[in-house]
Amino acid sequence: PPAGIFGPRRRAADVTLWTLGSINADYAYRVPRLPGPGETVAAEGLTRGLGGKGANLSVAAARAAARVVHVGAVGPDGRWAVERLMEYGVDVRHVAEVGEVTGHAVIAVAPDGENSILIWPGANAAIPEAVRDAPLAEARVGDRAVAQNETNGQAGWLATAKRMGLSTAYVAAPFDPQAVGAVLDVLDLLILNAVEAEQLEAALGRRVGDLGVRDVLVTMGAEGCRWHGAEGERSFPAPKVEVVDTTGAGDTFAGYVLAGLDRGLPMAQAIGQAQVAAALMVARRGTADAIPDLKEVQDARLAP
Ligand code: RIB
Repeated sequence: PPAGIFGPRRRAADVTLWTLGSINADYAYRVPRLPGPGETVAAEGLTRGLGGKGANLSVAAARAAARVVHVGAVGPDGRWAVERLMEYGVDVRHVAEVGEVTGHAVIAVAPDGENSILIWPGANAAIPEAVRDAPLAEARVGDRAVAQNETNGQAGWLATAKRMGLSTAYVAAPFDPQAVGAVLDVLDLLILNAVEAEQLEAALGRRVGDLGVRDVLVTMGAEGCRWHGAEGERSFPAPKVEVVDTTGAGDTFAGYVLAGLDRGLPMAQAIGQAQVAAALMVARRGTADAIPDLKEVQDARLAP
């Protein structure tokens, strides 16, 4: 095909990102402090929005100009969430309605932006096998498949995607070393945070750079991130912002990285854009509904 005004990138933009991921109703409570064991805390504010690590990632990638197909499930009470995903540009033809309630999350956000999250998986853990696997028949060699740890069937789905010639990625959240171990052999890209990386190294007895996964990204919050790739380890400092709410920042980072790669950016540039998107995200409240689009990211002037 002709290269077009974006040259080779135009061809890279033909890549589709397939997300097997959770879709939640997020109930976000603004609290004076995160509740400790046995403690009751009165919230000072409540909002409901679209969330779920999978949905957040899909929305981030779509807002970053990737072509995204979301594979997942909601209950009859979740049609609004599917409509909202669609409004953000995500292809929702493969989101099924099942006989479980839609997943939800109860999120407490403290004044320093830290959170604690309780999830009820509901429909996210009841995605029928046919709903999961059938969409991959539409995928093309070179497309990308990504999963996180909030649905059933991630390992089998990623293995099928890999066999079909897709490039595979896994976001290890919520973290479970066994879930990571189950997908490791078929992964091209693994994204996890620094605490999770340490736990994984302890569980497997190997450094994250020696897992046999081509690229590993370790996020470190305000400290930035590390990329373990073919040429060794490289660090990226994070832009400085005032933190209001860290919820969904990791999902936004992952979605932007994958979208950048799908659009043909080299990894370092995809990371750079993802860091700006995540920085904008922590400076505002909310999850999927608060994710910045590519124009906001490109126009942002943040302190290095
Ligand atoms: O990462 C943030 C997300 O975790 C929230 O949107 C919530 O739904 C939980 O899945």
